[in-house]
Amino acid sequence: MTASVPPGWAFTADDVRQLGHRTVEIIVAYLSGLRERPVFQPYPTDLAGALGAERAPDHGATVDAVLDDFLQRVAPYPFGNGHPRFFGWVNSPPHLLGIVADALAATMNPSVAGGNHAAVHIERQVVRWFADLAGFPDGSTGLLVSGGSMATLTALTVARHRAAVRVGVDVRADGMQGHGRRFVLYLGAEGHGSARKAAELLGIGSANIRTIASDDRHRMRPDLLRDQIAHDLADGRVPLAVMATAGAVNTGAVDPVDVIADICADLGVWLHVDGSYGGPAVLLLDRYRDSGTALARVDSLALDPHKWLYAPVDVGLVLLRDRHGARETFSLVPPYLRTDDDPTGVAGPTWFSEYGFDQTRPFRALKVWLMLKHLGLDGYRGLIAHDLAVAARLAAGVTAATDLELLAHGLSVVCFRCRPAGWAGDGAALDALNRQVLSAVQLGGRAFLAGTSVDGVFALRACVVNPGSDGADVDALLTEVRTALSLLTEDQPR
Ligand SMILES: Cc1ncc(COP(=O)(O)O)c(C=O)c1O
Repeated sequence: MTASVPPGWAFTADDVRQLGHRTVEIIVAYLSGLRERPVFQPYPTDLAGALGAERAPDHGATVDAVLDDFLQRVAPYPFGNGHPRFFGWVNSPPHLLGIVADALAATMNPSVAGGNHAAVHIERQVVRWFADLAGFPDGSTGLLVSGGSMATLTALTVARHRAAVRVGVDVRADGMQGHGRRFVLYLGAEGHGSARKAAELLGIGSANIRTIASDDRHRMRPDLLRDQIAHDLADGRVPLAVMATAGAVNTGAVDPVDVIADICADLGVWLHVDGSYGGPAVLLLDRYRDSGTALARVDSLALDPHKWLYAPVDVGLVLLRDRHGARETFSLVPPYLRTDDDPTGVAGPTWFSEYGFDQTRPFRALKVWLMLKHLGLDGYRGLIAHDLAVAARLAAGVTAATDLELLAHGLSVVCFRCRPAGWAGDGAALDALNRQVLSAVQLGGRAFLAGTSVDGVFALRACVVNPGSDGADVDALLTEVRTALSLLTEDQPR
């Protein structure tokens, strides 16, 4: 057996340079060619079949050969985000510094479970920046996670621990078994499905979720929330948390967090806010100042830099006011690690792995840090304000059209549907027609939007989180919708 570096590992500095140059050229071609390519095209079935049939190679190929394969079978088939006419879901394009940061973070490739190394201190700084922005007090904590779903799961796990301690249940030892108490979670009707998943994973069970109805602007109704919590308390149930939303994914609605915070304070219930989508707008822009200020009162907040802060997937952020509760919930220190606060030694500050589920953790902070240092909060304000203005133009275009109907407009989300003049069909037929329009637009490759349900009807849903999109792009989207509509209805009686 030889002790020299085996083939496949020994790259010279020139190899790295060459590979780097080729990679940069690929990135340049990808980014500069976006507008010329279809927004979306389904992955070809022959390629999918070939991928399915291929076995893991016994023998490797050259770096150039594998990059050629990337160029042929991967790069041409993105999900569309990045293209300025992609308005589906909340998938922003990555900022260039985010792309660079991911390569740099992978170059260092630390585990950020903890320790006294740069990545830990950068993550601590990023968390503190956002805690300051949200008005969380000194002594609160937080960590970067894989996304908004994990941020909410993390927060609700701490909330469950706190609620359990209050009623004398040792949830770490006994789980949710044998104590006979019913824990209840309160969610707005527009709350994201990740909270439901979290409730199921945490043993609360979806049957113990109280769905609080919305007002006519799709915001949680605080009066109903208060009545429901009071009712549950009187019945001996244990309110675990209320999850309000700052930017519902469906409609962009922002719940009245301040009023909800009053109720939670009165009744002693944990308040979690899901700001995965709208958090950045609400925290940064003056026009949402009232909602933004209210976030300083919540127990936990989910933010999602890989959405409206344009970081490459994945990076979410959870902020927790209750540092001790978080550590009590998650801390489990194996004997081969030492995680006590050790500012001058190897261990460094108390480890992130004591405040969340993951042990090995990636260097997610670098992308958020580099982008925020480059853009500044003002830079972000400008980008988000641009997205809001493009969405407002789309909403105005819908409102002005006689064959389109605006169903909801909040933050940068615009929901609408086609309703041809003189439409004589029923609601189900109109839903079906709009589903067909959606499919035609999505598969047409010239623009992309998503579908959803608003107040029980099928809606076309556009979300603008791409500063590269402009007014002409949303005008083009409406043209696509109208073209699909006229093709679908030309033979239909009105
Ligand atoms: C409001 C809201 N909450 C939570 C999530 C889940 O976030 P993630 O997909 O990052 O897990 C989303 C995703 O779209 C969202 O829009």
